[in-house]
Amino acid sequence: MISMLQAESVSFAYEKEQPVLRAVNATVPAGMLTGIVGPNGCGKSTLLRLLCGLLRPQSGRVLMDGAELSRLSGGARARRLAFLPQAVNPAFAMTVFEVVCLGRYPHAGPFGGLGPKDFEVARRCLRDTETEHLRARDFLSLSGGERQRVLLASILAQEPDVLLLDEPTSALDIHHEAEVFSLLRQLAAQGYGVGVVTHDLNAAAQFCGRILLLGASHVVVAAGAPEEVFREDALCAAYGAAIRVGRHPFVDAPFVDVLPQERPSS
Ligand SMILES: Nc1ncnc2c1ncn2[C@@H]1O[C@H](COP(=O)(O)OP(=O)(O)OP(=O)(O)O)[C@@H](O)[C@H]1O
Ligand SMILES: [Mg+2]
Repeated sequence: MISMLQAESVSFAYEKEQPVLRAVNATVPAGMLTGIVGPNGCGKSTLLRLLCGLLRPQSGRVLMDGAELSRLSGGARARRLAFLPQAVNPAFAMTVFEVVCLGRYPHAGPFGGLGPKDFEVARRCLRDTETEHLRARDFLSLSGGERQRVLLASILAQEPDVLLLDEPTSALDIHHEAEVFSLLRQLAAQGYGVGVVTHDLNAAAQFCGRILLLGASHVVVAAGAPEEVFREDALCAAYGAAIRVGRHPFVDAPFVDVLPQERPSS
């Protein structure tokens, strides 16, 4: 099934009078990887929480395949949508394999048990994220990047139609970051809807088919293909910084960098 998750003119404020998102339109269509970028505090994590139904917008709607997300039951939502938050701290000690198997519970039988098929899916997700060698380790003993890859394996094991990931590569080394983006792009090409928040604009330019750029004023500054969004005027407006855009030296994609500002010597 080809899925489409959509926010339609969504506005949200945690505290009255302080909007975090203003009339934001966002789509996470199947078929291409969608990147969500913008400065700290602009509302990216909030948008993902709205898109997965953890928060409800004060105005506007979130639609899954044209129907209001809020009408899906919690179980149906968990089978269709997976969310990887920016920070995850399990409440008690678990092995890596147990963490990945947690992803299978939305598919568990009526008595909550997992079967051989579930364990096979969990093993495949460990392989896909290059974390097989960690399977017996205590999750809390892992490095930051190892934890991120195991958590990615856990939401892949959920086998949802749409994946929403909040900075899933922020702690990864250069090799594993490219591997994860490449895996996400492949999943999107296979028909999953995949939305990823990242601060790595050059990875987004290389791997995403579509970018949503939010600005510090909590509005959408630009949306579309990387070539359309990663323009100096749009990026400078979103970040309030002197951003330059050139061409990537190795692949056919924009290359973004910020010009450091001279600081007066004291
Ligand atoms: N639970 C909350 N209660 C009150 N304010 C919040 C809450 N969560 C986030 N905020 C505020 O809402 C704004 C948007 O936060 P959000 O986490 O969505 O930003 P972000 O774009 O994901 O930033 P970052 O790049 O730093 O992760 C920020 O000003 C933040 O301080
Ligand atoms: Mg965030």
